[in-house]
Amino acid sequence: MQILPANLLDLNALRKLEDESFGKDAWSLLDLIAVLTMPDVIRLKAVEDGQMVGFVAGDPRPRDGWGWIATIAVAPRYRRRGIGRALLHACEAKLNVPRSRLTVRVSNQSAISMYQQEGYVTTDIWSGYYNDGEDGIVMEKALSNSPEGL
Ligand SMILES: CC(C)(COP(=O)(O)OP(=O)(O)OC[C@H]1O[C@@H](n2cnc3c(N)ncnc32)[C@H](O)[C@@H]1OP(=O)(O)O)[C@@H](O)C(=O)NCCC(=O)NCCS
Repeated sequence: MQILPANLLDLNALRKLEDESFGKDAWSLLDLIAVLTMPDVIRLKAVEDGQMVGFVAGDPRPRDGWGWIATIAVAPRYRRRGIGRALLHACEAKLNVPRSRLTVRVSNQSAISMYQQEGYVTTDIWSGYYNDGEDGIVMEKALSNSPEGL
């Protein structure tokens, strides 16, 4: 498995990955084009056998002192093999900010477990954050590549 920069040529593969990973929460085509083209966004893909099997995007906000993990997904049949964790590490390393933040559905136990294992702690609950009214958990981590995390 390799982790490589993603670009607009990955649009179709990313659409498929989003649909199979997020269902009703999948980003629109415009959102996907934006994440693959906007300046400053970190976009990395996990590639195995020449195919995209995972994706992560990060949104650095250096003036705020943190960056957001905007999305992360691994194709269902490649899960539980460390690819999600590897993508998360790679994105954190490139954010180049003191803290990393993300939101996750309260029901998304597998993702919450991964984030907890990786040192994220809950800092807030956003009530009704998702389209269907489910709450979002905001999690945060001090990054070791930043002065705060040393
Ligand atoms: C969350 C996701 C990216 C994890 O990817 P992955 O490649 O399976 O993750 P890893 O193999 O690196 O697992 C890392 C840790 O996450 C936790 N984890 C992952 N899947 C899990 C599951 N089904 N049940 C419980 N814990 C799980 C475990 O702690 C695991 O460590 P372990 O295998 O040593 O026990 C993947 O499940 C996914 O794409 N889900 C759908 C999209 C999604 O929900 N993204 C997050 C939105 S906030």
